[in-house]
Amino acid sequence: MEKIVALAKRRGFAYPGSEIYGGFANSYTYGPYGSELKKNVKDLWWKTFVQNRQDIVGIDGDIMLHPKTWEASGHLDNFNDQMVDCKKCKARLRADEIIQDQCQIECEGLSDEDISKLIKENMVKCPKCGAMDFTEVRRFNLMFQTELSKTCSTGSRQAGEGTVAYLRPETAQAIFLEFKNIVDTMRVKLPFGIAQIGKAFRNEITPGNFIFRRLEFEQMEIEYFIFEDTWKETFETWLKDMKDWCQLIGLTKIHELEHAQEKLSHYSKRTVDLEYDFPFGRKELYGLAYRTNFDLAQHEAYSKKELRIHDEESGKKILPHVIEPTWGVDRTVLALLCEAYNEEKLEDGERVVLKFKPIIAPVKVAVMPLMKKDGMKEKAQEVFELVKEFGNCELDDGGSIGKRYRRQDEIGTPVCVTIDYDTMEDGTVTIRDRDTMKQERVKIGELVKILSKKYFS
Ligand code: GAP
Repeated sequence: MEKIVALAKRRGFAYPGSEIYGGFANSYTYGPYGSELKKNVKDLWWKTFVQNRQDIVGIDGDIMLHPKTWEASGHLDNFNDQMVDCKKCKARLRADEIIQDQCQIECEGLSDEDISKLIKENMVKCPKCGAMDFTEVRRFNLMFQTELSKTCSTGSRQAGEGTVAYLRPETAQAIFLEFKNIVDTMRVKLPFGIAQIGKAFRNEITPGNFIFRRLEFEQMEIEYFIFEDTWKETFETWLKDMKDWCQLIGLTKIHELEHAQEKLSHYSKRTVDLEYDFPFGRKELYGLAYRTNFDLAQHEAYSKKELRIHDEESGKKILPHVIEPTWGVDRTVLALLCEAYNEEKLEDGERVVLKFKPIIAPVKVAVMPLMKKDGMKEKAQEVFELVKEFGNCELDDGGSIGKRYRRQDEIGTPVCVTIDYDTMEDGTVTIRDRDTMKQERVKIGELVKILSKKYFS
């Protein structure tokens, strides 16, 4: 993991946030290659699940929603972690995590009193200082709270002079709030989905593992509205669609985890996680949940607006049920980095190479003039203009050609195109494959066709 984090910084994928001020805990900035990679993930997801399908539409909602949203969704009451403070070193810890780590006991669904008892009975130690002196277990709501100016009246809880609002802890709720607008304006019919990509915020007690658990992160979520009696088959179809997505972007170390009934979130009747084998263990990558019609029913009750829709077949009004596939963008980026990372021994040394699939690689083609003189740089510019149709490409003209190949290997560029003296004579270039390192001479006139067939079809 340290090697991946170091490479991410060295090669402009992700920098520790606010570094010039000494850093800001658990914040990261995606650098030029990290943002390209992330954008490729989001664009491909949108194309796969929104643009290529007739049954899903997209929205782009606000981060701050009416505060009643979170009362209705249950997040205000239920979106808690149980925590303790170490009285000696003042570390704030997730109670379930320290018990699980030290005693392998699952705490899901246990009361605060039961958890306090478990800590004492099993002589659980503070992982930071080793002391066995904790506060009682307390609940900590994960939603970030902020305050709106007092002119913004919502009828909700007041704080000081203003009104309390929350940064959304999931993108899903904006979708439920717009359900009626979509039905009224978009001529959708069950089954249909509403998709959204955007930031979510959680005041995690123990963030960490690089970009795995963050305080702000991005989600790609779909609420797929269905007739209740079809939920089982729709769930299976989505599970397959999610696994196909993993294959599409090149993630192989995927495992399914069926949640036990007592581990389900307050809104879910069935949840399956897709876990990934990260270097720090097998952890949740994506989730799939059957949310019943819990959310629509709650919003109907709290807003007092009817959200039922007319079912032509039965002639009745119904409140659709929901299957929710959800993807974390940051965890996808991390899994892609982990999956792609390879160290290889070569005859003349070694190399680090990121073997991204071309479809998500941050740089598609690097064009390299052997020298900056004798017209090679200008020729490279011409070739760059040809290949840029494949996506983000680079004209890389600094340093020895060997060093340039190593650099492109480390950022995962699938193919490099080299312009040399022969190019100036016979109009051919060398294409060098990242994975095999084999080189082949092709005519510039055929370059786009060949690259397209080999890498970008
Ligand atoms: N709407 C359902 C929902 O939010 P979740 O399992 O809490 O479900 C969905 O979150 C996905 O969001 C997770 O599978 C994970 O990929 C990502 N995620 C959740 N918390 C995160 C965090 N603190 N940092 C980064 N990604 C996170």
